[in-house]
Amino acid sequence: MKTKAEKSIALAERYGANNYHPLPVVLERGKGAFVWDTEGRRYFDMLSAYSALNQGHSHPRIVAAARSQLGRLSLTSRAFHNSLLGPFLERICALTRQERALPMNSGAEAVETAIKAMRLWGYRKKGLPDGRAKIIVCDGNFHGRTTTIVGFSSDPDSYSGFGPATPGFLRVPFGSSKALEAAITADACGFLVEPIQGEAGVNLPPEGYFRRVRDICSRHRVLFCTDEIQTGLGRTGRLFALDHEGVKPDLVILGKALSGGLYPISAVASSSEVLGLFKPGTHGSTFGGNPLACAIGLAALDVIVKEKLPEKAKTLGTHFKAGLEKLTDPRIKEVRGQGLLLGLELAVKARPLCELLMKKGLLAKETHDFTVRFAPPLVITRPQIDQALRIIREALRDLP
Ligand SMILES: Cc1ncc(COP(=O)(O)O)c(C=O)c1O
Repeated sequence: MKTKAEKSIALAERYGANNYHPLPVVLERGKGAFVWDTEGRRYFDMLSAYSALNQGHSHPRIVAAARSQLGRLSLTSRAFHNSLLGPFLERICALTRQERALPMNSGAEAVETAIKAMRLWGYRKKGLPDGRAKIIVCDGNFHGRTTTIVGFSSDPDSYSGFGPATPGFLRVPFGSSKALEAAITADACGFLVEPIQGEAGVNLPPEGYFRRVRDICSRHRVLFCTDEIQTGLGRTGRLFALDHEGVKPDLVILGKALSGGLYPISAVASSSEVLGLFKPGTHGSTFGGNPLACAIGLAALDVIVKEKLPEKAKTLGTHFKAGLEKLTDPRIKEVRGQGLLLGLELAVKARPLCELLMKKGLLAKETHDFTVRFAPPLVITRPQIDQALRIIREALRDLP
């Protein structure tokens, strides 16, 4: 007799496209920093749906906002106004210190939106000849899974078999401001970068990189666009990862925790000079900016600010990182990260450790074979982190 979990996995594998390699755990419930499987076993969620759950699972204020909006009005499309869109966009602009915002659904859609916005600005404002705009991106980037985005990825798993790639992108090494400056030609309109490369293995650029990038982009009249989908909204110990260097980009892309994990919500925020270029009919989304999303997004942003989640990520992240650094296992190559976005790089493949951690009640996922990413919900407490550290120590001890 198959268990409920085994049946669920078998069905998903039989009828799904198998484009993921999940840990063999079937979850049914989540609260704060924890999730429960079909057998009622509790686990630490140390992935937070790739940082979409900064506010924790089922945050009561966000759930209440969703409940009160459900059954009132969920979708209007942008053919009509809705009463919550303005307040939501105003809130995003206040927090990002930008002038306008454009709401979408998934992170990849918001990245596509930013690409279109930068190209449009290149033609309309910088005067580039039509069809010539170039956007510079980084080696090791991860910005989503659409055809255009995977076309400028340097990861063969992402792009192989999905060509031809969209032209107009150029890659430079992540963290090298010299390489960026050397790559800028007259037809460059934008530079798109993650503040920390999450999917590539929690890679941080050298100190001062983004101040240098800001200066280079301003001098060459190239838009500086940061993808804060994974690093933003408190994750790294500041509201936005770029705040660590006191730098304001020209465009910022948000997603994931913009909904606290209840709903797909994303947005691009920028100046009127950039986002003001879109005219009716030039861009859109049926669900983008719908009233249910706005109600959830407003509550999700409120929780981040009112519960001081960036500050929590900073102090708890320092504590967690110090705990990981104390682990003495010779297979540990490096502990890196900022706030509660941490990577433990091993000299051996990371998957067996993740499977062992799962058996011991902690869910974390390997990224790019050798690194385990630890990114718990920011509502986690210090005693819970200590408990998680004990599990990690034990799992390393038992790892063959
Ligand atoms: C930095 C970054 N950009 C974009 C995306 C894509 O977001 P989505 O999966 O919602 O399309 C992700 C998702 O992991 C991400 O981490």
